[in-house]
Parts: sequence; C-alpha cells; structure tokens
Amino acid sequence: MSDAKEAGLPTLFDPVRLGAITARNRIFMAPMTRGRATREHVPTRIMAGYYAQRASAGLIISEAIGISRQGLGWPFAPGLWTREQVAGWRTVTRAVHEAGGLIIAQLWHMGRMVHPDFLGGAQPVSASATAAPGDAHTYGGRQPYVAARPLRPDELPAILADHAAAARNAMEAGFDGVQIHAANGYLIDQFLRDSSNLRADEYGGSVANRIRLLLEVTQAVVDSVGADRTGVRFSPNGEVQGVRDSDPVPLFTAAAFALSEIGIAHLELKEPPLSSNYGDAYLEPIAPLIRPLFDGALILNSGFDATRAAQALQEGSGDAISFGRPFIANPDLVRRLAEGLELAPDDRATWLARGSEGYDDYPLHSAQPALEDGGGKSGEIWDSGVG
Ligand SMILES: Cc1cc2nc3c(=O)[nH]c(=O)nc-3n(C[C@H](O)[C@H](O)[C@H](O)COP(=O)(O)O)c2cc1C
Repeated sequence: MSDAKEAGLPTLFDPVRLGAITARNRIFMAPMTRGRATREHVPTRIMAGYYAQRASAGLIISEAIGISRQGLGWPFAPGLWTREQVAGWRTVTRAVHEAGGLIIAQLWHMGRMVHPDFLGGAQPVSASATAAPGDAHTYGGRQPYVAARPLRPDELPAILADHAAAARNAMEAGFDGVQIHAANGYLIDQFLRDSSNLRADEYGGSVANRIRLLLEVTQAVVDSVGADRTGVRFSPNGEVQGVRDSDPVPLFTAAAFALSEIGIAHLELKEPPLSSNYGDAYLEPIAPLIRPLFDGALILNSGFDATRAAQALQEGSGDAISFGRPFIANPDLVRRLAEGLELAPDDRATWLARGSEGYDDYPLHSAQPALEDGGGKSGEIWDSGVG
C-alpha cells in the first residue's frame, strides 16, 4: 500500500465523482484531435478501437468534436451535427462502455480558426475582426488564416443552439457527458480574452461582459443535458494560437466562480508548468486560485508524470489529472502507472496522420500483470482493455 493511501489521502487509483458519473480512477485521458474521421466528419471504425483500447482511463475526454459546419475547420476531425455522425459516435461509445470505460464529448467551435475552404468560401466568425497567426490545416494543405468577421448579437442565439443541439446529440450517441471547449484560442476563448475580443457591446470590455458568451453557452448546454453531465475546459495561463489576456487572474477566477454557481460537474484546466517545452505558461499557476472558487471536480492537465500527478492529488490541488501525450503511445497507461512500468514514447509525425499507424497500433506493455499487492486491481484494469 502506498504512503498516501495509508495516510487516507487521495491517490491516482481512487474513484472520483463528477456530477452524474463516477470515474473508477483519477487518471483521465485529455482531449486530443487525431484526424481519423471521414472527410464528412463521421467517426470511423478505427476510432472505436482506439478509444476502447484506452478505456481503463478513469474518464476519456474525446477529441474536440465540431458542433456545426460553421465551427469545424480541421481536416478529418469528427462532428456531431448530422445523423451519420451520431451513428458513428454510437459505435465508439458502445466500444468504450463494453471495455468498462466512460467517455464524454468535447464540444468545439473553432471561430476564427476555420479557413473559408471549410465554409464554401465564407468568412469565419469570431468575437471581433481579427485573424489567427500562422497557417490553417486544410484539405488543400496549409493556408494562411484569414480575418474573421465579428458575430452580430442576433447571431449568438444560433451559437448557443448549436452547442445545445450537439450536447443532445452527444447524449443520443451514448456519451456519458460533455465538455465545452473554452480553451486553446477557439471561439469561446476568443470571446474570453482581450487580445481577440475588441467588442464594445455587452459581450466585450469588462470581465463580466467577456465571460457572458461562455456562461450563456454553458447554461444552454446545462438546460439540454443537465449540469451533472456538463463540464468546461480552460487554458488560462499563456498564449494559445494568438489568443492571450492582459490580466488572466481576474478573468478566469470570475469565470470559474460563475460556472460553479451554474453547478457544472467539472472544470479542466490546461496549464503547463512554467518550465514546459509544450505550451507557453508565463505566469505563476492560476489553478490554486481557482480551486477554492469552484465546487465541482477540478481536473488538472499538462506535463504531468506519475510523481507530479500523485503529489497534486495528495496536496488537494485537483481531483483528477488528465494525460494527453502519454495516452497516445500507452493505451494501458493506467496499468503502467499502477505498476511503475516504462512508458513508450509517442511519435509526433503520426499524431495527425491518416490510418492506424501511430494510432491504434501501439502495443500494451508486455510484462505479465502483477499478482501481488495491487495486482488484483490492475488485473481488472488489464482485463477490461481490448486488443
Ligand atoms: C495531438 C494532440 C491533439 C490535441 N487536441 C486537443 C483537442 O482536441 N482539444 C483540446 O482541448 N486539447 C487538445 N490537445 C491538448 C491536450 O489535451 C493536452 O492539453 C496537452 O497535450 C498537454 O497535456 P500532456 O502534457 O499530458 O500531453 C491536443 C494535444 C495533442 C498532443
């Protein structure tokens, strides 16, 4: 038994409740776009296998899923607005459930990051008339992002309705809940932060105004699937895809407090450590300031290894840890962390490739399941995986 367990402190292997669902451990899979759907944004069979292989995670947060044609500008990323897409996701969620896992859908509107090629030539939308830096991934290769047009106030009800409809579709497709993507420089983040929100109406300017769209989207999703099935993701610390804020602490603490008042089940914070080689945190961590303001489950993400993750739980800094890149090459990450087994490195070249390579072909660890202390538990996890 570990020291933490003996001391009655939470460990990575304890269950945790998030609203209506209970995760059997606190090692969650972070959302990761992998580009393995069809050109029409329908999930494929290999996606069912990939997610089922990772079903020993306490909770899988799906790759970002487009809520509408207007909101999706990533080649071969999945959507949740057509019947075919819902049917495709049903195959995925069934495979995960049969393997003993839980999976929630990350709801995505990319805003200014959608290239006109995905919109029949139309201009993308955002909080204000700004362009993302760099080049978009399109079916025709990399192309510079174009300037968005500001959403008119009379268009915002459709943004709320699209989120709510996608959330309902997620439930119909068998997901265990949803997560609203308010991170990484996409539409909601473009409204939250002051480098991309230059509006002069009630959706821009003050913190209360910039968090308005987030809260309205969240309320719309809560009204359609329930607060106990709803979560949100922020990337509060650092610049992502050209989106940053001049004073993020008041912004994200106010947003977290307001979400807590709505009563959502979880909040996930993608906040790289200051020394990270992936992501650009430039401030002291904001998570400790958010922790006392948010009553639901707090999920921490970015750059965690087993030691840092265990320590964060023991200190009470969060309720669960989500792992991104480690889950790419280690479908049995939970078992590997439980037994101290070596982690396989992932291959960045296949993160967004087509097909099985670097996707559903990473092997399970070859070591025999441990039989001693903790062996029964990890044996169960082992048995529940597929492949
Ligand atoms: C290939 C890849 C795709 C990603 N796609 C998404 C995504 O769809 N939605 C999202 O919120 N974050 C996405 N992320 C960020 C991860 O969820 C996570 O925040 C990041 O990898 C840091 O966690 P880690 O250090 O455990 O990998 C992606 C990361 C990677 C590597």
